[in-house]
Amino acid sequence: MNSNYIKKINLIVNEKQYNLEVDIRETLLEVLRERLHFTGVKRGCSVGECGACTVLVDGEPIDSCIYLAVWANNKRITTVEGLEKKGQLSSVQKAYIEEGAIQCGFCTPGLVLTTTSLVNSGKKYTDEEIKREISGHLCRCTGYQKIFNATKRALEKK
Ligand code: FES
Ligand code: FES
Repeated sequence: MNSNYIKKINLIVNEKQYNLEVDIRETLLEVLRERLHFTGVKRGCSVGECGACTVLVDGEPIDSCIYLAVWANNKRITTVEGLEKKGQLSSVQKAYIEEGAIQCGFCTPGLVLTTTSLVNSGKKYTDEEIKREISGHLCRCTGYQKIFNATKRALEKK
């Protein structure tokens, strides 16, 4: 590897620090999945279109397939693995289960994280706003009504 392309970074993933040397061309998706083994982060389209690779960076949902790992230096990253606390699923995860909003589950981690960011914002959302906020996520199993219901349920629980 050309050393001109290597940079040391510090990632805080699910409240744990990781000091890494990364290639400046590596995406956050590659680092999270292939080096740190957070396989809840899914690779779908790889071009920022499907939302499967969504993680929270300082609380904001981003497509990790088009976000360089070096941009996340010293930032707090949340993957779906970080939502469970002391063996308890988060209220958003429970809402997805309660609404049966999971089929194959490939889109679910990204959607759960986007929904978590909406819940954490503390704002109120109309039905149209909820649809707009989750519209960046493609569900190949097409369970959109249940996903909408789960997102709404999670927002009503807070
Ligand atoms: S894999 Fe990143 S948006 Fe599809
Ligand atoms: S549940 Fe299968 S892609 Fe959404």
